[in-house]
Amino acid sequence: MISFARGAPALECLDAELLADCARAAIHADRSVLAYGPGGGYGPLREWLGNRHGVEPGRVVVTNGGLQGFVFYAEELLAERPGQVLVEAPTYDRPLKILARLGADVRPLAMDDEGLDPDALERELAAGETSFLYTIPTFQNPSGRTLSTERRRRVVELAAAHGVPVLEDDPYGLVRYEGEPPPSLHELEGGELVTYASSFSKTVAPGVRVGWFVAPADVAARLEARAVSNYISPPFLTQATVHELIHRGAFEPNLERVKGLLRQRRDAMLGALAQHLDGEVTWSEPEGGYFVWVDLPADASELLTRAEAAGVTFVKGADFFPGGAGGERAARLAFSYESPSEIDEGVSILASLLR
Ligand SMILES: Cc1ncc(COP(=O)(O)O)c(C=O)c1O
Repeated sequence: MISFARGAPALECLDAELLADCARAAIHADRSVLAYGPGGGYGPLREWLGNRHGVEPGRVVVTNGGLQGFVFYAEELLAERPGQVLVEAPTYDRPLKILARLGADVRPLAMDDEGLDPDALERELAAGETSFLYTIPTFQNPSGRTLSTERRRRVVELAAAHGVPVLEDDPYGLVRYEGEPPPSLHELEGGELVTYASSFSKTVAPGVRVGWFVAPADVAARLEARAVSNYISPPFLTQATVHELIHRGAFEPNLERVKGLLRQRRDAMLGALAQHLDGEVTWSEPEGGYFVWVDLPADASELLTRAEAAGVTFVKGADFFPGGAGGERAARLAFSYESPSEIDEGVSILASLLR
């Protein structure tokens, strides 16, 4: 099966030798990485991340991947400020499932090529009490779109005017193949309402399960308390492994190598779409990240059934809309996992099925 469904890095992106060496060095340097410790994460890594974001280390909570942090954030915010949760439509499917489990009133915000529509945000903010806004402004999962700088400013202004907290989820921002990065919402707003979340899943390895949240001090304290009550302390071994990798200067070179491998895949995806499907479907053209969003001339669910029978899989658009309402004729194609030649083959199979 050629998988355009897996939003995961190709295995060759994962440097096993480097990580094994860093893990060994981390244990030898500090035996306490094998012990219990602070729920908010490995001290030296919190310090490094705090420096990077210009905040006190106590405002950084290192979680077991970004998604675990999302659960803690959503639980805390919904308890503290009951109200609607605003999300981009489409948005990452796992948070939608988590929010449904928590019984949240999830409201979709329309998007276009420049990201979420601030006018839609303004309307929803005026329509009812909002618990928080969840947004993935850069190389969004699933659409690959990036919120323009102008819209970022408006989103921050609207959040400030309504006093509404924002969760900026940014695991893909550093996985940029070209172009200039826009300022984060967190930078624009100053971190009073915006909590910034990211992860080493896309830059080092998803299996280390190291994500981080930069939050206002009270939110950070509550996230840390959630971590303690759920798992006592996180796996310091993998957090210290990531810290060792950074400390020895291997983060940037590793990221460059990973981006080189993924850029080839992004190029293969865009090239294959242009070669096999030009004029028949439209697609987003991301400067980074893992995903291309494709608008189809046909029902995605029916296409998926036939595609899987022909050896190709993807995620249908409806899975990324609250309640499955939308995206019936759309698909998310992840180019991160398969090789460039498999990507070309997979797209040519989809093209033959669409004809
Ligand atoms: C937007 C977004 N947020 C969070 C995550 C979860 O990442 P992690 O592996 O850090 O839990 C993903 C993973 O695909 C993602 O796409």
